[in-house]
Amino acid sequence: MENILVTGGAGFIGSNFIRFLLSEKKGVRLCNLDILTYAGNLENLKEVQEDERYRFFYGDINDQALVRQILNEFKIDTIVHFAAETHVDRSILGPADFIQTNVFGTYHLLEEARRFWIDEGFNREKKVRFHHISTDEVFGSLPPDDEPFNETTPYAPRSPYSASKAASDHLARSYFHTYGLPITITNCSNNYGPYQFPEKLIPLSILNAVQGEPLPVYGDGKQIRDWLYVEDHCRAIELVLEKGTVGETYLVGGNNQPTNLEIVESICKILDDLIPGSPFKPHSSLIRYVEDRPGHDRRYAMDTRKIQRDLGWQPTVSLEAGLSKTVKWYLENWDWVASVCSRPEFGLWVTRNYWQRGGKR
Ligand code: NAD
Ligand code: DAU
Repeated sequence: MENILVTGGAGFIGSNFIRFLLSEKKGVRLCNLDILTYAGNLENLKEVQEDERYRFFYGDINDQALVRQILNEFKIDTIVHFAAETHVDRSILGPADFIQTNVFGTYHLLEEARRFWIDEGFNREKKVRFHHISTDEVFGSLPPDDEPFNETTPYAPRSPYSASKAASDHLARSYFHTYGLPITITNCSNNYGPYQFPEKLIPLSILNAVQGEPLPVYGDGKQIRDWLYVEDHCRAIELVLEKGTVGETYLVGGNNQPTNLEIVESICKILDDLIPGSPFKPHSSLIRYVEDRPGHDRRYAMDTRKIQRDLGWQPTVSLEAGLSKTVKWYLENWDWVASVCSRPEFGLWVTRNYWQRGGKR
């Protein structure tokens, strides 16, 4: 792992991964290819923009000529593929971009990796790797008493987002079996932490609570997610790149099972303590039950024994500590929050997603 291409590195997890890797690994050169959708933000990478090991390329993963140029010019031996449309609610309101980026984009990237590494023989000089970042959502909705997902759980995606991610996982795996492209896949549970775009539950709740806005909880709020602090995810990816077996999938998760309501209530308690003089205390009084997400997956849970056993990975940040760090980060980086939220696109999204949902205490 010397010359790395990260796709989608201006987004939430990608930008955390770039900062993490540049601080962990002195000898790497890193190219970041990102088209800067509403979710991509170069502010997320301010700390590394002057680092001579880092280069940013504005562009689409579907642009095969650009991908080809980067692979050739920088002799890329490792691709870490984050770029995607990622918000389930947006996929419900408009699936087209999800198919275009998650399915076609992954296909085009795989094609260029195959051409450069296999057809042109770069893999005879170098050890190469295509690491595909995926999600637990491809496994569908888990009944309350069922065992957690594992690496052999059949795929059963239920939203356009998860279906598009499932398709991309299948494509990546097919390039391994058919063409011998050295791929690995991680399917991870819900991430949270610094620089997450405030359309997702945790940053949205922090931001709304601080401003005294309603905290929208879909349905009965008893849906269960498994939450992982983003830096633990970055460490898992690094380990899979270094020690993972080619062709294999690894499940990554935080080993916790809170309901959405419990998450929102925890955020409210943290804010009550951090802002004792807030006029919105107790912040939990802002919680509103709103119309549910169509096809809402009830529960995700992850069996992470394989990555623990084979690679020695386990989460290091508890949900309690991680939530507290995250809330503090948002409070201390209100300039970032304000700049993201002042973009007209964000206001439009909030109106589009929430205006007809109603709201009950
Ligand atoms: P994000 O939405 O914050 O960022 C996505 C990034 O991809 C943005 O910078 C965007 O500009 C870029 N992008 C989108 N389309 C592109 C294109 N066509 N070409 C180039 N760049 C493009 O996403 P995230 O939450 O950081 O997720 C990153 C990856 O991790 C995704 O593949 C997602 O499916 C996966 N994942 C996310 C989570 C989570 O909880 N956030 C959990 C498991 C897996
Ligand atoms: O599980 C991994 C996935 O986690 C990733 O693959 C996705 O890219 C990522 O967006 C995330 O998907 P979720 O749909 O689980 O995340 P979100 O933050 O949108 O929602 C978390 C839960 O909270 C979910 O059950 C829906 C609920 N929710 C969400 C929002 C935005 C609410 O109750 N109210 C809200 O306003």
